[in-house]
Amino acid sequence: MTPQQVELVQTSFEKVMPIAATAADLFYNRLFEIAPATRALFPKDLTEQKVKLMSMLGTAVANLHKLDTILPAVKELGARHKGYGVTAVQYAPVGAALLWTLEQGLGTDFTPDVKAAWTATYNALAGVMTS
Ligand code: HEM
Repeated sequence: MTPQQVELVQTSFEKVMPIAATAADLFYNRLFEIAPATRALFPKDLTEQKVKLMSMLGTAVANLHKLDTILPAVKELGARHKGYGVTAVQYAPVGAALLWTLEQGLGTDFTPDVKAAWTATYNALAGVMTS
């Protein structure tokens, strides 16, 4: 990831933060639409899950410029996901749902450069989590 991409991800995430709850709703609805089998992995009540996901994303985004410092935590997060029954192939629909959510939340600010920067971010995180 280039420093410009890190900045694009950070500034675009700031724009989504005020609507974090809506973004989380959009994300899970979209995920369960495109990958229904993932629904059973999550608890019935997603309230806590939504807060955790947005806060983890926030931490990752804030530390993107020093990704090496959060690598151990991201690796552990990946190991826990294996324990939740998450398989490597499920990272693709989750990434797609995330990009779709950002597109909804950002509208015209979701430029091709912003999309590329988020794709690089998600792939980096997913790559470490599944390693
Ligand atoms: C970059 C990718 C991802 C991030 C940042 C992320 C983040 C998180 C966080 C922070 C938690 C809270 C629990 C913990 O810390 O262990 C969690 C739980 C969970 N995640 Fe993810 N996740 C990612 C990818 C995925 C994928 C690909 C799936 C597949 C469907 C998934 C399914 C789950 C499930 C099932 C739980 C546990 C729910 C529960 O029982 O409470 N996650 N995730």
